Parts: sequence; C-alpha cells; structure tokens
Amino acid sequence: MPLPATSRFPFASDLSICRILNGMWQVSGAHGAIDPGRAVAAMFLYHDAGFTTWDLADHYGPAEDLVGEFRHQFAARHGADRLAEIQAFTKWVPHPGPMTRQVVEQAVGVSLRRMGTDRLDLLQFHWWDYRDARYLDALKHLAELRDKGRIRHLALTNFDTERLAAIAGHGIRIVSNQVQYSLVDRRPEARMAAFCAEHGITLLAYGTLLGGLLSEKYLGRPEPGRGDLTTASLQKYRQMIDAWGGWPLFQELLAALKRVAERHGVGIANIGARYVLDRPAVAGVIVGARLGVAEHVADNARTFDVVLDADDLAAIEPVLAKSRDLMRVIGDCGDEYR
Ligand SMILES: NC(=O)c1ccc[n+]([C@@H]2O[C@H](COP(=O)([O-])OP(=O)(O)OC[C@H]3O[C@@H](n4cnc5c(N)ncnc54)[C@H](OP(=O)(O)O)[C@@H]3O)[C@@H](O)[C@H]2O)c1
Repeated sequence: MPLPATSRFPFASDLSICRILNGMWQVSGAHGAIDPGRAVAAMFLYHDAGFTTWDLADHYGPAEDLVGEFRHQFAARHGADRLAEIQAFTKWVPHPGPMTRQVVEQAVGVSLRRMGTDRLDLLQFHWWDYRDARYLDALKHLAELRDKGRIRHLALTNFDTERLAAIAGHGIRIVSNQVQYSLVDRRPEARMAAFCAEHGITLLAYGTLLGGLLSEKYLGRPEPGRGDLTTASLQKYRQMIDAWGGWPLFQELLAALKRVAERHGVGIANIGARYVLDRPAVAGVIVGARLGVAEHVADNARTFDVVLDADDLAAIEPVLAKSRDLMRVIGDCGDEYR
C-alpha cells in the first residue's frame, strides 16, 4: 500500500519530504551492531514503502557512507535520474575551533564525498557553546556554499529560540531547526514553535518515540534499570522521563495513550507520532531505524491514517498537566547539550 498524499510535506519550494523521516543515529554503533549490506537492503525497503527521507549526521558512524552506497545501488537499479526521489539530510557537528571558509568547505566536502553527491539536500548545523560566537562565521560560510549550489538548504539542530532569532537577524536564511519534541518533551511549544511559524522556519522532531519507550513494549512494565536499556537512545530518553515526572507518571501516560490507540485501531507509537506531527511548525518527525536489525515500516505507515479529535486530546492532556515544566528544569530547545 503506498503512503497517502498526506505523508508528504512541501519542505521547500523544490523539496518534498516524507513527514516521517528515517533516523540514522541508530546505525552509529551505539544501538547494537549494524551489518552494512543488510542496512542498505533495508534502505530500499523503507524507500519503496514511501519513507524516502533520511536524517543523518557526519558523526553517526557509517551513516553518510551508507547513504552513498544506497544512492550508488539505487542509480544502478533505477537510473541516476531517479536519485531525486531520495532526500538525505545530514548534519555538521564541528568541534569548537576556528570556522574559516577552508574549515567549513572541507567539512562539507567530506559529506558530499561520503554521500556520493555534488549537492547536499540539507545541512543541519550544530554548535556546542554559545559563548563562542564563531557559529555565525560557520553559518555565513555555509550560506555561501548554499548559494554556490553545494548545499540545497541550510538548517540548524538544537539551537534555542534566542540564537535562532540572532541568526535570522544576521540575514542568514534557515529552513528548519531539528529539536527534541515528544509528548514528554514539549519545550518547543513554549517559544520555538511560534518564532518558527512567524519566520517560515519548520521543526524536525526527534525523540518523539523516546527511543521506543513510547510503545506497548513498556506499558505496565516496572521501572527498567540501566542494564535493561540496551541502546543509547533508550538510556537518553529514560533520563528525560525522570526529569519530566518519573516512571509512574510515564505509565499513566502510556495507559492513556493505549486507550486512545485502541479507539483508532493503532499502536501507542502512532498516537505519539501523530500528536507531534499535528503541532504548529512541525514539518516531520524522525523515527530512528536500526537498519537490518528491526523495522516498523508498516506500523509507522499507520500514523498517517490517524486523525486525533478533541476526546483523544482530552484523554491525554490531564496526564501531561501533572508533569514538570521542562523549560524550567532544562531550558529551551537544545539546552540539554550545553
Ligand atoms: N539532532 C539531535 O541532536 C538528535 C538527537 C537524537 C536523535 N536524532 C535523530 O532522530 C532519530 C531518532 O532517534 P531517537 O534516538 O530520537 O529514537 P526514536 O525515534 O525516539 O526511537 C527509535 C526506536 O523506536 C522504536 N520504534 C520505531 N517505530 C516504532 C513503532 N511503530 N512501535 C514501537 N517502537 C517503534 C525502534 O526500536 P527497536 O529498534 O528496538 O525496534 C527504534 O529503534 C535519530 O536516528 C537521529 O536521526 C537527532
């Protein structure tokens, strides 16, 4: 079954994406071993099912190389003309240091080479320390590379609203900011989403499924110990749940979501993804894929069939209202990294 037309989003005038992006942090090695051959075979499965958009980064182990190999095999199978059907969004996460044109060009050149392309669809830039204002230098050079055609669109990840506004104020055109956004972490609603909506910037959400914790698998389960959580992703979001309100409240949330999911004949993960897809400024949610190890392609396709109504939201909101305000506990988007 092909995905419905509502699965697509006009991310830019020249770029349509699938609203559920395939996340490739899961091939980095921190989530179990990945076999490259099986991973590339799995990429065809996702693509053929309509999940044509990939989220990756320079530091996600072999992710950029896997995209390169996928593109190579795809062109051999379907012809190079059809490569435009694939959207591959990478990131640059530089170590702090001088952000000269040469440094920036070199980094982009590495990603282009690894991904086997002469133009990156999207380059999402991350910066560790706002006290070091050289992120503005990097972004100016990246904007020049975009204008020269090496990058189609320039984006950010984990920037807060204040710096996003500063970047816009410098006249640097940004199309999206990738941030953590889930039923548990709703910080983007505080300031970020309104700023984005006003400035024509969209959000790409990650952590929406809390590494898999937001699913039937953890419903009714006692609090897992660190040893029970076998991927970096599960460990990361377990900490987020602690900051948000703890495991008993999370169980209340899972139970409420299960009731909503049953009403729609889908799973908890579908409701979690749909909730975030419906929020203002959200272009897409990124769902991590342990390529060649585990897949949820048919399951996640069902998210596009779900329409949440007022009763559904009324069942979820009272649980969310009991949680801590993560803006207060952590700060704005991305502050967990700083
Ligand atoms: N910019 C950043 O700083 C940043 C940070 C983190 C992540 N990301 C991006 O976001 C992506 C998502 O990663 P994440 O760590 O946030 O993980 P996630 O998407 O919240 O969780 C991924 C896991 O959820 C499970 N899952 C997927 N679909 C499911 C379904 N329908 N039902 C039940 N379980 C399901 C799978 O577990 P199993 O594999 O065990 O089946 C999968 O490995 C990353 O790959 C990366 O691209 C970006």
